[in-house]
Amino acid sequence: MLATAISKIQGSPISAIFDQATKLRTEGRDLIDFSVGEPDFDTPEHICTAGIDAVKQGVTRYTPVDGTADLKAAVARKFQRDNSLDYTAAEIVISAGAKPLLATAMQAVLNTDDEVIIPTPAWPSHIGMVEVCSANPVMVPTTHEDGFKLNAATLAAAITPKTKLLLLCSPSNPTGAVYSAKALADLAEVLRRHPDILVISDDLYEHIVFDDNRFATLAAVAPDLSDRILTVNGVSKAYAMTGWRIGYAGGPQWWMDGMRKISSQINGGPCSISQAASIAALDGPQRFLATWCDTYCSRRDIALEGLAKIDGLKLSKPEGAFYLMPHCGGLLGRKRPDGQVIETSTDLASYLLEAGVVIVPGAGFFCDPYFRMSIATSEANIIEGLKRMAAACNALK
Ligand SMILES: Cc1ncc(COP(=O)(O)O)c(C=O)c1O
Repeated sequence: MLATAISKIQGSPISAIFDQATKLRTEGRDLIDFSVGEPDFDTPEHICTAGIDAVKQGVTRYTPVDGTADLKAAVARKFQRDNSLDYTAAEIVISAGAKPLLATAMQAVLNTDDEVIIPTPAWPSHIGMVEVCSANPVMVPTTHEDGFKLNAATLAAAITPKTKLLLLCSPSNPTGAVYSAKALADLAEVLRRHPDILVISDDLYEHIVFDDNRFATLAAVAPDLSDRILTVNGVSKAYAMTGWRIGYAGGPQWWMDGMRKISSQINGGPCSISQAASIAALDGPQRFLATWCDTYCSRRDIALEGLAKIDGLKLSKPEGAFYLMPHCGGLLGRKRPDGQVIETSTDLASYLLEAGVVIVPGAGFFCDPYFRMSIATSEANIIEGLKRMAAACNALK
């Protein structure tokens, strides 16, 4: 029998739609996939070369549990250069992706029934990780009307004596919302009144920020709170290195020591080759990041223009990341050509899958009626996918 905490957890709905789409593809169906959560660029050559060199030079042994000294030094330089944050080696932990880092960070501090405040729509793993710890996610709904952002009032209202942790993700997966320095300063004001609340800042999409928006991170905005903030980042989304599996975090040493203890028993050190490649990523040229960001931004504009033509959707303009989160309440209650009624965003996702488009229904992100559409795919795919979506949605009665 599964442990109680584990039997409560739902499998990732993103994986479910992915499996359904994979099945249709093996049957020969032509699908435009807007479900993917990874950059469609290749890992830049200088990073691959560093990985290959590492193999050739025999960098193939166990590394320290929390990462090599060289990668930690590169991470410290990155935090200083991009975020004005100073972390010593003891305040940095490297792991096999940001995902295990977030999970060990939670395991290190959460006790049974502790509460973790998470604004929704939320990335499903943020919630699942809390549940694995037998703690309780406290979901604070945000909408397209408030820009999908928690504010001082909604944060304060969600705090109880059991609140242990606040989880922030900016730019957000799945909404694309970006918290400005001012918005974070407002949240910090609330946190100052609650000295026992810890914060995890998930900054994975730091380099994908559009228009006049500027990336900001809580530890830099409120340095007086830095002894309870863990800043999590990684190379997956920034450098198109999802398969290399390297994430890193900076935070207070007491929290890092807890994470090291867990990793030493469960994970061991991350891949030596990927760590060498990540040094090249963090220390190497950074200019292409702005070029990639411009590409995502123009795809966002194409997607917004296409979605605006579909009656029944309400849109908010993503400020970063590579996702859109349209509200599809206006399509609910309408009938498909075969007479079936679209009652939820999950029904809509199934219908669109039949029309050759893969989207992820809002239920997967603890919000409805919304769906997530990833723009980490070519302009041609976005245009074709939107054509199919418009035709299918306009056929609803
Ligand atoms: C918000 C967010 N945090 C963390 C991760 C995990 O990243 P990694 O590939 O480094 O494990 C993802 C991946 O989808 C993500 O969207």
